[in-house]
Amino acid sequence: MFGNLVEFHVEGNKVVFNYEKSKGIVEVITPEIINIFLPLKREEKLSKAIENLTENKVFFEVEKSEDKVLIRTEKLYIEVKPEFKVDFYDLQRNILCADYLGEREPFIRRGVGNLAEEEGHKINKVRDKLAIEVLKELEGNEYIYGLGDKTGHLNKKGYHYKMWNTDDPSPHVESFEAMYKSIPFFIVLKQGMAYGIFFDNPFKSYFDFGKENSKYYYFGAEDGNLDYYFIYGPSIAQVIKGYTFLTGTTPLPQLWTLGYHQSRWSYTPEQRVTEIAENFRKRDIPCDVICLDIDYMDGFRVFTWDKEKFANPQIMISKLKEQGFKVVTIVDPGVKKDKGYFVYDEGLEKGYFVRDKDGIPYVNKVWPGDSVYPDFSDEETRRWWADKHKILLDCGVAGIWNDMNEPASFNGALPDDLQFKNDGYPTDHREIHNLYGHLMSKSTYEGIKKFTNKRPFVITRACFSGTQKYSTVWTGDNQSFWEHLRMSIPMLLNLGLSGFSFCGTDVGGFGFDCTGELLSRWVQVGCFTPLFRNHTAMHTRDQEPWAFDERTEEINRKYIKLRYELIPYLYDLLYHGEKTGLPVMRPLVLHYQGDRETYEINDQFLWGENFLVAPILQQGQRARSVYLPKGKWFDYWTGEEIQGGRYVVKETPLDLCPIYIKEGSIIPKFPVQNYIGEREIDNLIIDIYPGNGQYLHYQDDGESFNYRQGQYNLYQFTMVDGKNLEITVNLAHYGYPKIRDFTFNINNVEAKEVIVNGKGISFINREGKVTFTPCGEKLDIKIIK
Ligand code: GLC
Repeated sequence: MFGNLVEFHVEGNKVVFNYEKSKGIVEVITPEIINIFLPLKREEKLSKAIENLTENKVFFEVEKSEDKVLIRTEKLYIEVKPEFKVDFYDLQRNILCADYLGEREPFIRRGVGNLAEEEGHKINKVRDKLAIEVLKELEGNEYIYGLGDKTGHLNKKGYHYKMWNTDDPSPHVESFEAMYKSIPFFIVLKQGMAYGIFFDNPFKSYFDFGKENSKYYYFGAEDGNLDYYFIYGPSIAQVIKGYTFLTGTTPLPQLWTLGYHQSRWSYTPEQRVTEIAENFRKRDIPCDVICLDIDYMDGFRVFTWDKEKFANPQIMISKLKEQGFKVVTIVDPGVKKDKGYFVYDEGLEKGYFVRDKDGIPYVNKVWPGDSVYPDFSDEETRRWWADKHKILLDCGVAGIWNDMNEPASFNGALPDDLQFKNDGYPTDHREIHNLYGHLMSKSTYEGIKKFTNKRPFVITRACFSGTQKYSTVWTGDNQSFWEHLRMSIPMLLNLGLSGFSFCGTDVGGFGFDCTGELLSRWVQVGCFTPLFRNHTAMHTRDQEPWAFDERTEEINRKYIKLRYELIPYLYDLLYHGEKTGLPVMRPLVLHYQGDRETYEINDQFLWGENFLVAPILQQGQRARSVYLPKGKWFDYWTGEEIQGGRYVVKETPLDLCPIYIKEGSIIPKFPVQNYIGEREIDNLIIDIYPGNGQYLHYQDDGESFNYRQGQYNLYQFTMVDGKNLEITVNLAHYGYPKIRDFTFNINNVEAKEVIVNGKGISFINREGKVTFTPCGEKLDIKIIK
């Protein structure tokens, strides 16, 4: 394919290889991130996932030896072999990732092909048609993670996936190859060392991790450039840092978005919305958000209200606001084809809708019936769409939920040859399909930012790599199946590893009827998912916390309240995540990469580094085994101290989700409120689990972008556990005038004395805990045991 190497030379951070028939580029982005680029479609990259990547001079050396060219950075050796085959080594010359030199060689499948064909059904044979294909060696000892929220397990080895954003209404099962999202990034863990690959190609692409043949894995696409990034760890955390350095991290959201959200298709009319709101307050169940699904609109026309059902949305929303509720409304991309409807008329006049190959606005069916699709690949269209949000924001809407943006269509798939403007590089649907949701949520984000100047809250169903900068995501139309609760854990964990920290599932399940027991267990997981939203479909039974029986309601209350207590800790995780890219929900392997036992845990997760959650995912289960990694852990409910590095059995009555806290943890907590901001909190609880530890606690105004100008406080906690327990607190950064006091709650300690900044202070010893409230921002605390 390439022919002989004619010459190679260095241009800035690039090493350009000119072959007889082709050109290849190896670009050193950082010492640990290398881009491999073949301009097969066009010279320009036009990445939508990577924005504003500035070129910094990076040190590297290039040397030719026989038929190879060796590039050495401060972290890696890259060996470029004939035919532009590229291998990556660490500096100790351990091979990390090698191109596979053989041909594709699918395992033999006996018989005609598949069961359906065997039975005589007519089948269209499909094999991945790949214009671009990269094969990498598999040694057999790899574990592969990432790819967003694909179904199945945490470890993707042995499976095959497709990136083609798809709205398939049938129940999600393990064999689904494509889902709503395309996140072509994965992490390979091999002998304790991790690297990542980000394949920045939006065309339909395929990822086969040894399903076709266990000797290699491959990724490839139907068209576009060959453009991938090798991201070295060796820790998984460093790989995520590298990937989010390229595609962006999940930004810090507004505080209220971390509260509980109640949704259904659809709360209507207004009186039903009011009833839901009143129930939360009457029943003492915290809630911040009520979501309005498609029926708030006039005949599903986006940016309108059905004035029969919602006579005055502005007044309704302001009344809800008085009770502490925010309203989030759904906005779909399909614009009703309807002369006289302003969105349709304006878009038609300005040429903002996607056209067919003959240049005529393309029509398909979605909720409003015949509809046209905005061309979000065009900046002017994105700006127009962003501006439309003023209509909803002026009514007091606080966030926008983008749906059906794969884009979905009821009347057959959108044809490949639809025309998109693509910001000056006209192209067809094949290139934009997987980016459609990404570009729509970017436009939504920009609209909200422009009119509110607050951190925008967007939820999207479809997306691409990089959408995490603009939007939260949920995993789409799950069902009220135990199987879907079980599967939600690896889905969310892999989303987190793929840059999407702020994610969630429909708590209770979308399709099918939920049961009290299932909701009780789901809320125990939901309590820890960054996006905590109960949502269900049309025609299913009611699914609000009180819709089943008293016990279910009580369990919902307990876990929703627990969530509200833990919001400062969750907010801290998101603050740090904006810098490091690390997700809120983490597979155990992320922090225990040296412990093989953690590599395939699908039914437990870490929440930050301090919480280990082992939820119940099966009906009727009243005990489960929990793997606790090495170190000491505290049972959250009983305070029992347990040595890890082993499995323990925990009894799990319906109201109990096993939670363990790592020794040395410092956990900031709020008192329970009905909603975020219900009261001024001037005293924060600091829950201490003795051990050696450090913690950075963050505070700001919870809504604006001022923190980016330094308007925040950062408290540095350090704890040393010896003969005495010593804790120091420093205000490491001061920029936000509100200062809160801390009430310390020291677990599993009995104190003889508590000395703060050299003076004894009063304290309470109760039920194995010590409680005291010192004054000041700089604290030197000694707990004399
Ligand atoms: C889609 C969404 C779902 C929503 C429904 C109606 O199925 O995934 O959440 O309720 O459309 O808008």
